[in-house]
Amino acid sequence: MNLNIKKCSGFQGEIFVPGDKSISHRAAFIGAMARGETRIENFLFSGDCLSTLFCLRNLGVEFVRRKNNIVEIGGKDLFLFHESSAVLMAGNSGTTARLLMGLVAGQDFFSVIEGDPSLKKRPMKRVAEPLERMGARIIGRCKGNVLPMAVNGASLNPIVYKLPVPSGQLKSAVILAALLADGESRITEPVSCRDHTERLLKFFGADISREGNVIHVQGRKRLEEGRITIPGDISSAAFLLTAAVLSEKSKVILPNVGVNPTRTGFLDILGKMGAKIEISEEKITGGEPAATLTAFAGDLEGVELEAKDIPSMIDEVPLLALVGALARGRTVVRGASELRIKESDRIGAVVRNLRKMGAEIEEREDGFMVEGPQKLRGAVVDSEGDHRIAMCLAVAGLSAEGETIVRDFECCGISYPGFTDVLKRWEYGH
Ligand code: S3P
Repeated sequence: MNLNIKKCSGFQGEIFVPGDKSISHRAAFIGAMARGETRIENFLFSGDCLSTLFCLRNLGVEFVRRKNNIVEIGGKDLFLFHESSAVLMAGNSGTTARLLMGLVAGQDFFSVIEGDPSLKKRPMKRVAEPLERMGARIIGRCKGNVLPMAVNGASLNPIVYKLPVPSGQLKSAVILAALLADGESRITEPVSCRDHTERLLKFFGADISREGNVIHVQGRKRLEEGRITIPGDISSAAFLLTAAVLSEKSKVILPNVGVNPTRTGFLDILGKMGAKIEISEEKITGGEPAATLTAFAGDLEGVELEAKDIPSMIDEVPLLALVGALARGRTVVRGASELRIKESDRIGAVVRNLRKMGAEIEEREDGFMVEGPQKLRGAVVDSEGDHRIAMCLAVAGLSAEGETIVRDFECCGISYPGFTDVLKRWEYGH
């Protein structure tokens, strides 16, 4: 499906963004590892999170989907999962594949994890390596680095481990395995990254604590069933915030968005660039902070980012290429080479596509440099099958003269199924 989009401005109104993708995955995994029935409200029923639910179902987990984005999950305690006779299909979802590796590494059976063509290019050895040290046997293509991977689960030993890359998925995979290990594991994160797994586990009664940058996880302690409400996804909100700050006379209100400090880097950077985003009605939901975000049109200036700024806005970096092109002065992103191994090579994809729209932007191995303000013109651009690139280009199309056609747009359903409805609402001026 292609998306046709024209220049539009003055965005107004209140929009409820769907539930957080990272938290939805984790709530499903942890609910499955708990005792009894867990009820999750505002679950994100998107392509990626459905991949997680279907993989868990193949491992014997029962779930019921209710109206209004509620899902109830029948917990399997820690060790009552079944061997799947089918391959576990993670689709496009890195979070599904990697967290699943952590879960099945500690089960006394054999599993095969597979992915779509994009996921089959992404590195898995970083996850397999610590799990093998804990006692699992894992093999895969390309010297054990890419899917499909076969996991022979085992009775795991605890691990003392330092994360070699700041990755929330890697950290979470090791934490899930640590829950199944016989004793206490210690995981050090030199640069902090999203901590949803730790927060949720506390909520479910796990023995998990943090001292400085070291996470302590006590294995084989039973998790109690829970009832949680997931906040809106700040990474989905980011597209709407960007549209608002780039377009004059805008005022966009986004209630109940997750504002966990390990995820709010993009808000901080937009603020530094001169954007006006108000945070109000702060509350805690399911152990996570949430708030209403109100974004106004702004007069923006360029900004420079270093490696330490990246983890808390990793999925929003492509948007910064767009904002940088339209802001006054120079925007430079360094230390972001992890973007090259996401659902697409996001540095290459955003640079290639913005150039088609007339932008001058320098691609660098670990980021990009762009000097603004520039004018964008409508063009035929390509999502390259990556949901975040698709939505970034749609927002670019709202600021470009003439018409923009985003090819392969249906992939936005991976994380934000209702995104085109928001765009339609804006096109028709309400
Ligand atoms: C995620 C972590 C990030 C992020 C991805 C979701 C998670 O990936 O890009 O969209 O849910 O833990 P990395 O862990 O590879 O940085």
